[in-house]
Amino acid sequence: MGAVKFKDTVIPVEDGEPIRDACEQLGVPFGCRSGLCGTCMITIEEGENNLTELTPEEESMDRDRKHRLACQTQIRQNSITITFDEV
Ligand code: FES
Repeated sequence: MGAVKFKDTVIPVEDGEPIRDACEQLGVPFGCRSGLCGTCMITIEEGENNLTELTPEEESMDRDRKHRLACQTQIRQNSITITFDEV
């Protein structure tokens, strides 16, 4: 079982599952949900190696392992800690 952490909140995510729903519960804003708009940019403070590889959509937006699109990323195992621009 993996998890997405933000401040004092921890949302469990099954290994291999997208982090999108957990990030949405944590307040990350979403737009297109398909890797096109860039609204869901998050910073991975800890655990970047627990995520799947960057998608072509993320690479086209100059994302890197520490800066991901929450709509494109799955957790492999264990937990990640994120931050994002709160609106
Ligand atoms: S919601 Fe548009 S890129 Fe993720």
